[in-house]
Amino acid sequence: MTAQLSRRGFLSGSAVVAGALAGAGAVVPVSRALAASTMGSGLAYGPAPGVAKLNANENPYGPSKKALEAMFEASSKGAYYVGDSVPRLLDMISERYGISPEYLSLSSGSSGVLTYLAVAKSKQGKILGPDLFWDTTTKAALRQGGEMKRIARTKDLSIDLDALYAAITPDVSMVQICNPNNPTGMVIPADELRKFCIKASKKCTVLVDEAYNEITDDPGANSMVSLVKEGYDVYVARTFSKIYGLAGMRVGYMIASPENTQLLQTYGLGNYAMNQAGVAAAVETYDDFEFLNYSKAKIQEARGIILDAVKKNGLKAAPSETSFVFVDLGKLNAEKFRQEMASHQVLIRGIYQDYTHWSRVSCGLIPDVKQYAAALPKVLEAMKA
Ligand SMILES: Cc1ncc(COP(=O)(O)O)c(C=O)c1O
Repeated sequence: MTAQLSRRGFLSGSAVVAGALAGAGAVVPVSRALAASTMGSGLAYGPAPGVAKLNANENPYGPSKKALEAMFEASSKGAYYVGDSVPRLLDMISERYGISPEYLSLSSGSSGVLTYLAVAKSKQGKILGPDLFWDTTTKAALRQGGEMKRIARTKDLSIDLDALYAAITPDVSMVQICNPNNPTGMVIPADELRKFCIKASKKCTVLVDEAYNEITDDPGANSMVSLVKEGYDVYVARTFSKIYGLAGMRVGYMIASPENTQLLQTYGLGNYAMNQAGVAAAVETYDDFEFLNYSKAKIQEARGIILDAVKKNGLKAAPSETSFVFVDLGKLNAEKFRQEMASHQVLIRGIYQDYTHWSRVSCGLIPDVKQYAAALPKVLEAMKA
């Protein structure tokens, strides 16, 4: 049974636990004609009609009605830099977690804060991570001379926390985990991750990227924010790009101790370097549980349709607790599969690193995942030929 999102739901799990998130890289470029529709301005803003856009884990039900109204109002004052809405958003987030705003750093999507932290930590040592995770921002630090260390892949694609812990040598400054992981969609059992974070944070900094936390079955228990409050050397990244339906509005944040926040902000632009409309939308959506629960239910419905189609066509998938499914194509090549799917107007992801037979598909709009399900047998048949 999946927990409904609520203020309590977000907190209760973490309180219980307190007592006791590529290679996944950037979105593959798709042709403008496939990826975008044009509005009155003639500019492209989203998928063209008939195109099933299932390649970027967006929540296509957003922005919510309240967010749209707030954005309209905020945009009409777009001549001005952002103002009161920033402390308002910081207060809302702080209140939920029982922390002060000094624990929070906002940025353009969570990519901003994740990049600042990667750069900061790579100056102190290597960044350690699983074989496969959303490492786009980590790579930004590598381009500036940073180094990364990865542990070996596991057979079932889970993250081997023992191996990760064993790999924390003195030259490692930070270990990064994405939970649920992207692109696998798999969640680490909350108690195991909590124990790992406590142990590991005594040896190096721990970063948990919780971009998809709200979509999991138990967001409260799965979040490691309580560890930040308890004083461990842990950073937690969150975003408004996923369940909140605001990927294009670019709002994300990091939760960390005031001292850790200060380190991160050395590399950032501060909490007021934000987009007026984006912050307005985030404020309106943060507590809009009607919208959030509706979105979560639709995402789960879409996931069911994908998993059903996968099974019916003799394929398997990694167990997903989020808004995408990592499908095992057996012997088929995932890039070729992506291209075949694109010929049916279905946009999905291609190969990740050397995971040549794994294919990620997002839980998008119901008609879009149905389009994927309908194309699947045809694509498999075409690839057999
Ligand atoms: C695990 C994970 N973290 C962070 C991000 C960054 O998203 P944003 O910058 O939109 O918050 C993504 C985007 O897909 C992601 O999958």
